[in-house]
Amino acid sequence: MAGRAPIALVTGARRGIGRGIAYALADAGFDIVVNDVLDDAATRETLAALGAKGRRAAFAPGSIADLPDHARLVDDAFRAFGTVDCLVNNAGIQVKVRGDLLEVTPESFDEILAVNLRGTFFLTQAVAKRMLGERRSPDAPRRAIVTISSANARLVSVNRAEYCLAKTGLAMLSQLFALRLAEADIACYEVRPGIIRTDMTAPARDRYDRLIAEGLTPIRRWGEPDDVGRTVAALASGALPFNTGDAFHVDGGLHIRAF
Ligand code: NAI
Repeated sequence: MAGRAPIALVTGARRGIGRGIAYALADAGFDIVVNDVLDDAATRETLAALGAKGRRAAFAPGSIADLPDHARLVDDAFRAFGTVDCLVNNAGIQVKVRGDLLEVTPESFDEILAVNLRGTFFLTQAVAKRMLGERRSPDAPRRAIVTISSANARLVSVNRAEYCLAKTGLAMLSQLFALRLAEADIACYEVRPGIIRTDMTAPARDRYDRLIAEGLTPIRRWGEPDDVGRTVAALASGALPFNTGDAFHVDGGLHIRAF
């Protein structure tokens, strides 16, 4: 497999940030395994666009929250092009109803944690085990696991507590795997997007338009999926060879606290 293209598995890649990551990785020379729980016109559009970039693209359907299905999902992904060099944990969901911390229900808590944290943790575990079990040629691409958390890994939004808790958990997840996998030269990074223009943020578009215009983000514009994609592509391509366990903000400066 000397000199071959690196291969990335991107979860939740049919639209939004995941799609932006898949496109940026393809532009950086990766072949892409697209995972998503939904298989629809958007999925096909993403796969076709990746093909049009001259990269190989395959679809590995499945929910990251469905733990008993992980073995099949990981098998599909590794079989598509022979291995997976980079896992991008992007799939995630937002709370259905934003509301007071004092009114969070166990059902919403469990749903958000099941996808965003539990699903991501066990899929990462399954992929890591598979990676560790592989024999690598010395010139194979460097491996990486990039986890998309959120600005809410650090910033507190009291109207979506369960989302914040899950994303904070991902910050620890990334460091845990960074420590465990360093000896195998698998780098782990966390990426914290700020306010990114996708379907997930569409319900709050007017509010964010106003907040951005008022200066909430030092760089006064919406983030785009491509902004996140470029960061992930740089990390996955080994641009920072002596780094692991780091968190990278892609948020136009949202995280900076002024004094
Ligand atoms: P989105 O809702 O537009 O896209 C998410 C994709 O993940 C969809 O294609 C969906 O079908 C898929 N998905 C959902 N649950 C899944 C599951 N259980 N298994 C597999 N695929 C699943 O969301 P967006 O905005 O692209 O967000 C992507 C990630 O970025 C999420 O983890 C989100 O929490 C995070 N994020 C988003 C921000 C934003 O401003 N849009 C800001 C910070 C973080």
